[in-house]
Amino acid sequence: MFEAQREACVAAALAGGRALVPYFRKLEPGTVTEKSKNDYVSDADRASEAAIKAELDLRFPQYSFLGEETGASGENSRVWIVDPLDGTLNFVQGFPHWCVSVALWDAQGPVVGCVWDPLREDLFLATRGEGATWNGQPMSISQQSGLDGAFLATGFAFQLGERFKLFTKALEATFYRAKGIRRAGSAALDLAHVAAGIYDGFFELGLQKWDMAAGVLLVQEAGGLISDWEGGEGWFESGSVIAGNLWVQQELVDAFKE
Ligand code: IPD
Ligand code: CA
Ligand code: CA
Repeated sequence: MFEAQREACVAAALAGGRALVPYFRKLEPGTVTEKSKNDYVSDADRASEAAIKAELDLRFPQYSFLGEETGASGENSRVWIVDPLDGTLNFVQGFPHWCVSVALWDAQGPVVGCVWDPLREDLFLATRGEGATWNGQPMSISQQSGLDGAFLATGFAFQLGERFKLFTKALEATFYRAKGIRRAGSAALDLAHVAAGIYDGFFELGLQKWDMAAGVLLVQEAGGLISDWEGGEGWFESGSVIAGNLWVQQELVDAFKE
């Protein structure tokens, strides 16, 4: 099912990547602006979102759209949720770790999701109920048996404010148990890497819908679980996400409760 939507999702993510690559390490400093403190936007973000939106509008003009840079439009219950460049700060600094995230959601949740990493040519794709693939091959979540010895990813955006204290408690609860914890700067790519079995788990507070709309479906369809920091279902609204396989995800939830 959803063959045409999946094709559109991939075509849009690739179009975003084609728009971004020429800017990488070639951005004019004057074209980077600070939306709020430490939250940057560049000509690259805008060019990518325009390319993605054009591709989606061509194929599914009736669907609604929610993009980080252009906001929400449309009344249809099916909505494309787009982060045209996840990892903007990395991109602006020339750190080669960023991606494009495109997902379609309906009233039941995510329908298709695509994360595209143009520098590595890694395409992560999932369709609801049909599994997830990494460059066309089926992918599945890691088999790590629990938090002890797990390889984790996290993020801590500057916008966390007072919640940073909550984050540091979580970090303390995982630090002595995990094998390693990475903060690479692209939540969408972190989730894709959890789905691919590279990371055993991921946690972050304060994500936006476009950061996670595609990545959560990748994780779920690869056999993983998503919850908020209390272990509940409110993650999409709150932006507080814990992802991982059955054992790691549950042990992260338990560790954060203590
Ligand atoms: C950010 C990245 C980062 C995460 C932030 C996001 P952006 O997205 O995903 O890893 O920690 O919460 O805002 O601003 O680069 O699209
Ligand atoms: Ca983002
Ligand atoms: Ca972004």
